[in-house]
Amino acid sequence: MHESVPHRGEPIPVTTTRPYYVPVGNEEQVFTAAYRQGLSIVLKGPTGCGKTRFVEAMAHDLGRPLVTVSCHDDLTTADLVGRFLLRGGETEWVDGPLTRAVREGAICYLDEVVEARQDTTVVLHPLADHRRQLPIERLGVTLDAAPGFGLVMSYNPGYQSVLKDLKDSTRQRMIAIEFGFPTPDIEEKIVANEAGIAPDRAAELVRLGQAIRRLETGGLREVASTRVLIAAGRLIAEGLDTRDAARAAIAGPLTDDSTVTRGLMEMIEVYLADQQAGE
Ligand SMILES: Nc1ncnc2c1ncn2[C@@H]1O[C@H](COP(=O)(O)OP(=O)(O)OP(=O)(O)O)[C@@H](O)[C@H]1O
Ligand SMILES: [Mg+2]
Repeated sequence: MHESVPHRGEPIPVTTTRPYYVPVGNEEQVFTAAYRQGLSIVLKGPTGCGKTRFVEAMAHDLGRPLVTVSCHDDLTTADLVGRFLLRGGETEWVDGPLTRAVREGAICYLDEVVEARQDTTVVLHPLADHRRQLPIERLGVTLDAAPGFGLVMSYNPGYQSVLKDLKDSTRQRMIAIEFGFPTPDIEEKIVANEAGIAPDRAAELVRLGQAIRRLETGGLREVASTRVLIAAGRLIAEGLDTRDAARAAIAGPLTDDSTVTRGLMEMIEVYLADQQAGE
């Protein structure tokens, strides 16, 4: 399991510089209001649209440490809450990331929460509602969340099947914020900043990305995200030709299908000028 939690004993740090995040709508206001009211938050949106970066920026703005847990179907309640481990012949309780966040009043971000099984996520229910409590069965205690604790979850509605859908009882306890891709002017700014390329090169990549998003092909599992446009920009920043960068960072990752690949290559030819870096 990936966790961004430091070792025991060290407090979880708060970021000192604001992670770069450009708001796309009113998401910062909604998040802040929900957090201040102690309401849990669910971020919905496709991959690479800025959900993780947004939570990092909000945790910074609210002055709270952030604990991130990437969920997957092997995740157990013990992975979240904690377990007894053998240390020097003695068993010792070690808090899981959720418990640490509850004790320290951190924002706990459960990334791709639908990947986790429902018997794992059931532990979130009393935390997600007005009780704000975490029962730890193995210890026979129930912790009240420290002030400042916040529960944030994300999921990509495109991926999961109906079966894996969140339970209604969980959903109705949350404030939802929907993410889409930014408008072209905002996305250009993001791509230029993140990749360190000139605004006009970023604008070209964004135009290509927009065109790919308009395609109605069934061949693409996901459309071109801000993330892949940034990756192409990074290759350009390294001196690669724009089209080569787009082929490697956009067309390649999006599909393995040769017909779809050919279509994407044609779009790259049309949308991207045949320029060498630095021209
Ligand atoms: N509004 C934004 N402001 C600043 N950067 C952004 C924004 N949206 C996207 N990005 C950039 O796009 C990259 C991908 O975003 P992020 O990792 O937050 O996506 P995500 O929605 O969490 O994706 P996934 O569902 O795959 O985890 C970020 O590293 C960041 O560079
Ligand atoms: Mg993410």
